Amino acid sequence: MKLEDRVAFVTGGGSGIGRAICELFASEGALVVAADLIPERAVETAERIVSAGGTALGLEIDVADAGKVERAIDAAIAEYGRIDILVNNAGLSVGDRITDLDEARWDLNIDVVLNGVYICSRLVIPGMAERQSGVILNIGSVNGLLAIGESAYSAAKAGMVNLTQNMAIHYGDDGIRVNLIAPGTIRTPIWDERLKAEPGAFEQLAPWYPLGRIGTPDDIAKAALFLCSDDASWITGVALPVDGGLTAGNYRFNKDLQGVREKPAT
Ligand SMILES: NC(=O)c1ccc[n+]([C@@H]2O[C@H](COP(=O)([O-])OP(=O)(O)OC[C@H]3O[C@@H](n4cnc5c(N)ncnc54)[C@H](O)[C@@H]3O)[C@@H](O)[C@H]2O)c1
Repeated sequence: MKLEDRVAFVTGGGSGIGRAICELFASEGALVVAADLIPERAVETAERIVSAGGTALGLEIDVADAGKVERAIDAAIAEYGRIDILVNNAGLSVGDRITDLDEARWDLNIDVVLNGVYICSRLVIPGMAERQSGVILNIGSVNGLLAIGESAYSAAKAGMVNLTQNMAIHYGDDGIRVNLIAPGTIRTPIWDERLKAEPGAFEQLAPWYPLGRIGTPDDIAKAALFLCSDDASWITGVALPVDGGLTAGNYRFNKDLQGVREKPAT
């Protein structure tokens, strides 16, 4: 078991990637706190874990609200005594080009995606530093590594990369490792609205991926397990794309280029 008796606090743990991380971590011996804006979802994740023989607690949290974060962290510590692993996974994405984005929607992206990491991490780090041991994993996005739309969300995700690096250098000597995973397209409920408008979106996206498919929540959970376990004990400050090769280069451009080269001379 890679996470025996570690206490893992996962924001956005009621759905998609967060739920997959909660379930995989629990199966590796972690005591899991699934925390979500929608408490019923968090409780459902915990119930799934308990009925599979694991240990878990479902809690309400709003990562953009320091008071609510503090209450959830206190409840987790009251139950399990400490937090060893924090996974900053909660997220949403609203809007695209800045000229179509009002300030409220800009703020919502930044508040949840970027400020949420700041709020949750600063409340958990002192306990980790006291024990000289802890892991923080931020779930960023390929959108934070290059421009592929969704301006506010992407700017917030890019901010997460730098915040990850700064936290890694500031708290390494407190025994805390801080890393980020940048997922490519993953089949989760975050896509529900878009799929309603564009039912073929996943089929349209798959050919952009060198590995020929979009990802699953488990693809991310497995990388998260590695980075949060002692197998990664000398890894901190990295932004790891888990994206089927999307950001390795421009695959479609490359294919077009080969097509041009392969054309017989006229
Ligand atoms: N699915 C993808 O294609 C994809 C790609 C790259 C990155 N990501 C990132 O992965 C993370 C998880 O996304 P997902 O795809 O599993 O989405 P999801 O919608 O299935 O899950 C996100 C969860 O976060 C919760 N949440 C939203 N706002 C919150 C808040 N203020 N406080 C607490 N919880 C809140 C939601 O209730 C939901 O349960 C997000 O950070 C997302 O940006 C997803």
